[in-house]
Amino acid sequence: MDIEEFNKKYAGKCSASIGKGGLTFVKVQNDAATAEICLMGAHVTSYIPKGQPDVLWMSSEAVYKEGTPLRGGVPVCWPWFSKNTAFPDGPTHGVARNLVWDVKDVSCDGSAATTVTLSLSAVPGYEQFWKYAFALEFKVTVASSLTMALKTTNLGKEPFVITEALHTYFNVGDITKVAVEGFDGLPFLNKVGTPANSVRKGTIFIDQEVDEVYQNASGKAVIKDASLGRSITVDKRGSNSSVVWNPWIAKSQRMADFPNDGYKTMLCVETAHANEDARTVAPGESLEMVCIITSKQD
Ligand code: BG6
Repeated sequence: MDIEEFNKKYAGKCSASIGKGGLTFVKVQNDAATAEICLMGAHVTSYIPKGQPDVLWMSSEAVYKEGTPLRGGVPVCWPWFSKNTAFPDGPTHGVARNLVWDVKDVSCDGSAATTVTLSLSAVPGYEQFWKYAFALEFKVTVASSLTMALKTTNLGKEPFVITEALHTYFNVGDITKVAVEGFDGLPFLNKVGTPANSVRKGTIFIDQEVDEVYQNASGKAVIKDASLGRSITVDKRGSNSSVVWNPWIAKSQRMADFPNDGYKTMLCVETAHANEDARTVAPGESLEMVCIITSKQD
């Protein structure tokens, strides 16, 4: 992308610059919020509604390097979530987070809403893992809410199946004082404990490693953060599964791009098409998944 040309074209709407690791970032600032999007991965790395601390958590140990996924923010996991058993050597969480996306458009709705539309239409270097013709569009609207809409279109002649996630890392004050609501009564796969299949009863509190994939999760989740004195609502459209993840102590220590005490100030609540919620996209059809994040100070 020609940065000078971009900045001329979108002057007054947003700006682009080269940041850490030589990666290109688009910065949005309007009357409601500021945000940053790294073009590698179409990765939202910051969303700051006016008067609040960042809603997103970025790892202080994140590796900023083209081809290496960023730790924190909102990784776009596509065209698969987690491991793909068909490609045991393939990258975890798909290929989209490792690739540089294009900016398709930037638009404003008044002075307090800016939409950056990014696109990806090829997977250079990963063709052995994804042979289908597709168009991927990611619309990020920065306003008093952060709205992220990921649309997959099948441009080929045969159907394909995808799993995906907007793997959102939330910034919390103290994980031991966080309560997550919205999953009561829902079945989930527990990836790190027993029994593997269970049903959530009541509120989620985090006091150990948590890696849970919820099904029938088509509604809102609320992260109540007593330390930062705010509630973050994660609303969604077109998704029936969600993932709740905190690596806790041992896994934080094992991950090179994650600070040892990072688990204390982050929590992932991911809007997904995961596991049983895998989707088939027929030729010529599109599938959209939307996540709407709103943070309110108490
Ligand atoms: C979560 C998964 O979505 O992502 C976890 O449920 C995984 O199992 C985590 O550890 C982080 O994945 P990665 O590939 O970014 O280290």
